[in-house]
Amino acid sequence: MNLKQEETNLDNKSLNFDPTSIKEYINLVGYNESNLLSKLRKETKKFGPLSIMQIGPTQGTLIGILCQLGKFKKCLEIGVFTGYSSICIANNLSDDGELFALDNNEEYTKIAKKYWKLAKVDKKINLMLDDACLSLDILCKTMQETFDFIFIDADKNNYMKYYEDSLLLLKPQGLIAIDNTIWKGRVTDETDKSKSTETIRNLNKFIKNDNRVEHCILTIYDGMTLCIKK
Ligand SMILES: C[S@@+](CC[C@H](N)C(=O)[O-])C[C@H]1O[C@@H](n2cnc3c(N)ncnc32)[C@H](O)[C@@H]1O
Repeated sequence: MNLKQEETNLDNKSLNFDPTSIKEYINLVGYNESNLLSKLRKETKKFGPLSIMQIGPTQGTLIGILCQLGKFKKCLEIGVFTGYSSICIANNLSDDGELFALDNNEEYTKIAKKYWKLAKVDKKINLMLDDACLSLDILCKTMQETFDFIFIDADKNNYMKYYEDSLLLLKPQGLIAIDNTIWKGRVTDETDKSKSTETIRNLNKFIKNDNRVEHCILTIYDGMTLCIKK
């Protein structure tokens, strides 16, 4: 067998895994979730199918590691839900660090606030409870080029605005993480013309050609794109 055949075999083999057993394996050895975050995950289940909006534990851990590595001080999250990712970010900021957290839902963020207190990160978090587009307009008036890290995880239809505003708000070398950029595989289904899929597909193409950033799409969970602002 030549090298090319071996590589092809290896590619096919690596694509042949059973996603369910890999997921179980990752849940077994892939990360350590704190008791508090696992309690929050359980409490969020009360929202039924909507609880799928919460980020996965591997993603949360990765975001925490990125915050540690980058020694971030000023962060922004667009899409809080019940507060899982905001805790992953705020837990890894120094005592003088701050996180601006944007969401428009009082019911979800009431739970987030409860868990921020339990995690003792509430003092670092500034919740802006409004439409994220309006909150971003306010931030863009006074805080351009001041953020180290921005996590985009709200309504997909506004992703383009969230991305452009994030680039304004980020310092050079700042990092953006964008969630759901594989969109359960729907981005590769050309017959899927729904607004959310089209928006993510267009954003992915746009970022690929955007020389203001260096980027890569991680195939973690539902896909997460990392962009460093040049
Ligand atoms: C996918 S969830 C965020 C998950 C969260 N990052 C976590 O770790 O659990 C999306 C959130 O965006 C919020 N959202 C949706 N559209 C919004 C908008 N236009 N303005 C502000 N928040 C919005 C929803 O209320 C929801 O809490």
